[in-house]
Amino acid sequence: MKFSLTLVATLQLALFSAAQSTINPYQYSINKNFTGRKGAVVSAHPLASQVGVMIMKKGGNAVDAAIATQLALAVVYPGAGNIGGGGFMVIHLSNGTNTTIDFREKAPIKGHRDMYLDANGNPNLDKSQNGHLAVGVPGTIAGIFAAKKYSKLPFSDLIQPAIDLAEKGFIITAAEAGGLNEDRPNFIKYNTRPVAFVKGQPWKAGDTLIQKDLAQTLKRIKAAGQKGFYEGETARLIVEEMQRGNGIIGYEDLKQYTANEKKPSQFSYKGYEVITMPLPSSGGVLLPMMMKMTSRFPIADYGFHSLKAVQLMTEIERLAYADRAKFLGDPDFYKVPVKQLTSETYISERLRLYNPDSAGDSKKIQAGVVNKESEETTHFSIVDKSGNAVSVTTTLNGGYGCYTVVGGAGFLLNNEMDDFSIKPGVPNMYGAIGGEANAIAPGKRMLSSMTPTIVLKNKKTYIVAGTPGGTTITTSVYQTLLNLIDFKLSTYDAVNKPKFHMQWLPDVVFIENDFPDEIITGLQKMGYTVNKREQIGRTDVIKILNNGTIEAVGDKRGDDTAEGF
Ligand code: GLY
Repeated sequence: MKFSLTLVATLQLALFSAAQSTINPYQYSINKNFTGRKGAVVSAHPLASQVGVMIMKKGGNAVDAAIATQLALAVVYPGAGNIGGGGFMVIHLSNGTNTTIDFREKAPIKGHRDMYLDANGNPNLDKSQNGHLAVGVPGTIAGIFAAKKYSKLPFSDLIQPAIDLAEKGFIITAAEAGGLNEDRPNFIKYNTRPVAFVKGQPWKAGDTLIQKDLAQTLKRIKAAGQKGFYEGETARLIVEEMQRGNGIIGYEDLKQYTANEKKPSQFSYKGYEVITMPLPSSGGVLLPMMMKMTSRFPIADYGFHSLKAVQLMTEIERLAYADRAKFLGDPDFYKVPVKQLTSETYISERLRLYNPDSAGDSKKIQAGVVNKESEETTHFSIVDKSGNAVSVTTTLNGGYGCYTVVGGAGFLLNNEMDDFSIKPGVPNMYGAIGGEANAIAPGKRMLSSMTPTIVLKNKKTYIVAGTPGGTTITTSVYQTLLNLIDFKLSTYDAVNKPKFHMQWLPDVVFIENDFPDEIITGLQKMGYTVNKREQIGRTDVIKILNNGTIEAVGDKRGDDTAEGF
């Protein structure tokens, strides 16, 4: 896809800073495949991928590129790229260091367990999903500064491309235009100050989006570092925005926020070492559970998308997600039996419930209705020429978060509070239910599905993978890894072949539209309820071949773009 220059854009291009010389924000293409030797970035937006590559060309490593890509996404991919949300970063360095950064949002100090229940104890999902009260304390900027110690270039170099993109503008894709038009009523409803995303005419592909207020916020972060967000003018604007809409985030929430460096969730699978995000990422528990269960079966012999393989994986997903609902939450607040859940003994016990001949049964607790299929998290994968790898999944939760833009500061706030269990048994926007382990408490992090992952082969980077998609994230990462490791699909097919998803409740196998009909019929005959869905996730993968060649693939399901050199 190509976007043409407009006259205004041409003039703006001349003003674009020298640091941007390799990037033209007014003409770019969406590239799905990249093959090369020196480095690659695959992210949800072509310009963000280009920024990451430009930083590596300037001598930055994969962490530098990740910081710059994240900041660029906050400008060019406002639906999920963010500075008003949070996420997870998994890092493998070529010196053998494996680490993670947890910059998940937190419940505000004034948050409490029943804050979304009315006088009769009924949940108010509108409040947990839209507007000011849905917002968790943002973590992205703290996460970037926690990762900074692993990077090489000055921070000013990493943030300047994002400042330029916000200040001078860039042309938007058809998908972005569609998203902005669709949510126009929400931007109007949940804001009292002018918002760059709302204009008189509908947006169309090739229109230029300029975000002056966001550029000013980024400049304050450039000048004052983390304090440029959590203190001073930006903090004042956030707190004033909260006060305008009955939000509860205050100065202390912002000042106290910290991102945490954590030991990864790490396990072996068929000779590979899998490094993923620990809690509050549910993937840090579910991925090892699912892959350990899978390793008990000769799944490669069953064949890719064979009925036998799909049925086994569906049941494995069901077993793991049943435990998610009961046991998983922020381990700083709730004792999660991670060791037990991922132990071989427990895996054996769980598999006793598996019947290869018929559908399992998730009943007993009534499944709720999935309210909305907005799954606007975003993922990017990066490797550099030394084999350093970074896997980042970051989110506002729903598309464009809670729809509220901080007045005068130009960035969207998340609606991450909905990822808590707002009432035991009540499904959130992804249909996920939970209980005590994931109940709201001040300063607690809400459970996440984000599963940024790196796989090592002979101690070196082999696969970097992740995806958006709410609760489908973990099952998509699981399937992508199996596609590559067991079924030996090409990287392109591992990303793009249709996916499926089971999360215990609702007791339904969700399946992409282009899934083979005979498998759907086969599952139905075994007693499964199968629901078709348009898309599951947008998986961005890098794989390094034995000869050192880097293969990067952006998912066909979005504007995802692979760039490199
Ligand atoms: N907000 C999506 C997730 O963290 O799982």
